[in-house]
Amino acid sequence: MKTVGVLTTGGDAPGMNATIRAVTRIAHSRNLQVLGFERGWEGLLTNTFRQLTPRSVGGIVQLGGTMLHTSRCPEFKTEEGLEKAAETLALHKVDGLVVIGGNGSFKGASELSKRTSALIVGIPATIDNDVFGSDETVGFDTAINTAVTAIDKIRDTAISHERIFIVEVMGRERGFLAVNVGISVGAEIILIPEQECKLETILEVIRENTRKGKKAGIIVAAEGVGNTGTIAKEIEKHTSAEVRLSILGYAQRGGSPTARSRLLAGLFAEKAVDVLCGEEGNCVVGLQGGRVTGTNLKKSSETQKPLDLSLMKLAEMLAT
Ligand code: F6P
Repeated sequence: MKTVGVLTTGGDAPGMNATIRAVTRIAHSRNLQVLGFERGWEGLLTNTFRQLTPRSVGGIVQLGGTMLHTSRCPEFKTEEGLEKAAETLALHKVDGLVVIGGNGSFKGASELSKRTSALIVGIPATIDNDVFGSDETVGFDTAINTAVTAIDKIRDTAISHERIFIVEVMGRERGFLAVNVGISVGAEIILIPEQECKLETILEVIRENTRKGKKAGIIVAAEGVGNTGTIAKEIEKHTSAEVRLSILGYAQRGGSPTARSRLLAGLFAEKAVDVLCGEEGNCVVGLQGGRVTGTNLKKSSETQKPLDLSLMKLAEMLAT
């Protein structure tokens, strides 16, 4: 192993910079040169990269976003795109590639692995926390904290006006962010794609809360549950509650990473470089039961990470 490529792809996540820095510095300590490809997979298609050194990645551990930039790159998914990416790796004699991203990124990485001799290691970094093989992803903790800070403020105005707020958080098709945020803010109701919740159930909870004397409420909804605006309208139609919708949106992807996200960046980067140097095979590194582990890349990309539904029960008990 002599040359390691690194790229960030898919939606950015806080802590991607800390991950780039950690990979670069740890790889250099093992006498590897590091090439940072720009704008995710696009960098491999356009042969756009820069040499990364311990000094060139200085001063970024605390910065949100990604210094290498990222993109959605439909061209990479084509046969020609994958071949071109493999050619670029061969051109620069890249024998190990670190892909920093989420589940979609690892699907792409798994396809690329069929066409290149370079070893590929994925580092999970996404606010969706949807990577099989890791209990937690870089950026997830930061996004939870960002959403919690915003919703605590929304709770103030909800109480003042005696309103119900539906707060929509990101997470793509998954409810990891919603359930963790919901518990942390004491949401009265949490809506996630993994557990169907009928309108009638929502209405029952709201009516019961009114009987108990609760005049305000927070419903945390994952974006994957569908049209939250319609849910807001339906609640207003069938109850006496005044309802507002607040979509938190892209702010959840930005900001300075929490200590937790930075720490995971370091732990995952160390494992990724170990895997590359040990030539252990394509994998996704991760945290499982407190241990840093590696999971086969193909398996990780093809397996849906389970969400622990007992968290929904806990949330319900905490919201009484
Ligand atoms: O995967 C991260 C994420 O922020 C999801 O939560 C969200 O659904 C999606 O990316 C948005 O993607 P885009 O940046 O392409 O709009």
